[in-house]
Amino acid sequence: MSSTTERTFIAVKPDGVHRGLVGEIIKRFEQRGYKLLALKMVQAEKKLLEEHYKDLAQKPFYAGLVKYMGSGPVVAMVWEGLQAVSTGRKMLGATNPLDSAPGTIRGDFCIQTGRNICHGSDSVESAEREIGLWFTKEEIVQWDHHSKAWIYE
Ligand code: RTP
Ligand code: MG
Repeated sequence: MSSTTERTFIAVKPDGVHRGLVGEIIKRFEQRGYKLLALKMVQAEKKLLEEHYKDLAQKPFYAGLVKYMGSGPVVAMVWEGLQAVSTGRKMLGATNPLDSAPGTIRGDFCIQTGRNICHGSDSVESAEREIGLWFTKEEIVQWDHHSKAWIYE
């Protein structure tokens, strides 16, 4: 199976920001070889968070999840590269950090599902939907418009 270049939406959740893990999370995507296309710190509106997690609206934890995500600023990012969506999810680790393998972000830094410090898109379709929710087109860098080429193909 050939790998495709994808974009994924990665966010450091309020607990990750509060705990000073922004740099650590960015570092892992950078050192893996992914390309940063957009980044901003946002105190997200409730409406945006409800829309972001709308697929979970029927879940018992939905209200608490939206509250947690709005409890402080989030660092929202777009990363691009080969299989960015599925590899990004592997780098984050399982949703429940107790099941996250050591070496993953969640497996190294947290223990509670409700405080699992980071978000990553679960499919190419949801990545595109989430990127469109959190960023305007102008906020996303198009590296090929710049004179210096990216170091990787
Ligand atoms: P995320 O969307 O944040 O990257 O997480 P995920 O795909 O691994 O998990 P998802 O099913 O999309 O759930 C979104 C977030 O909701 C919280 N959650 N709490 N109490 C619970 O049973 C429960 N289940 C999920 C977590 O913060 C999870 O990341
Ligand atoms: Mg999810």
